[in-house]
Amino acid sequence: MKLIKLASIGVVGLLALLLLAPSAQIKAAAASNGPKAAPAIDANGNLHVPIGYRTSYQFLGSWAVASAPDKNPGETHVVYASPGTIEAYRKDGRFPDGSVLVKEVLEASTEKMTTGTVSRAQKLKGWFVMVKESKDTHPENALWGDGWAWAWFNPSDPSKTTSMDYRVNCITCHIPAKSTDWIYVQGYPPLKATR
Ligand code: HEC
Repeated sequence: MKLIKLASIGVVGLLALLLLAPSAQIKAAAASNGPKAAPAIDANGNLHVPIGYRTSYQFLGSWAVASAPDKNPGETHVVYASPGTIEAYRKDGRFPDGSVLVKEVLEASTEKMTTGTVSRAQKLKGWFVMVKESKDTHPENALWGDGWAWAWFNPSDPSKTTSMDYRVNCITCHIPAKSTDWIYVQGYPPLKATR
């Protein structure tokens, strides 16, 4: 009898935890105004893919990398920004410290649909994550520099990057966007639109 009681208290406790934990998280997210770097970096400056970004982040834009016959199926890239980034950018024309950008790389599937030849997201290939940090707070870390923290994550491990050095792995490809703080802002209508 006692055991059953204890067990049922355990179940109730577990249920309460399950029910309370997400609502506490939602409250915490709602209470924070402006971008927060915390969800994408730990105290040592190590990056990870922010948990729950698909629901809590803002949609910035998407890119389609055309498929090449007999070569690759193409990709779609979907870019998200941490809450508050869009508002701050519209106001000041720059990404405030703490802004987190997440770019999903998805293998595309292309087929004829009633609208034409259409590519859609098929399979996640990984994530690029950047965190704005203009103060150069982690000079010892080879993934931090030029105003950002930079990292790539394979689908198998969103909490541990495989990137070694942003100067080798990232920045050369972002030189065309240097004048816009290394970000390809032309692909993100929400940074401009006022509606
Ligand atoms: C092969 C060239 C290339 C490499 C290597 C590369 N990028 Fe990019 N990146 C781009 C281009 C081009 C875009 C925008 C168009 C697209 O997604 O196809 C982009 C977009 C992004 C975005 C979305 C925001 C933006 O700048 O528009 C993030 C975040 C990003 N890259 C992070 C990284 C990080 C972090 C690394 C290194 C780990 C990296 N990239 C390496 C070319 C590259």
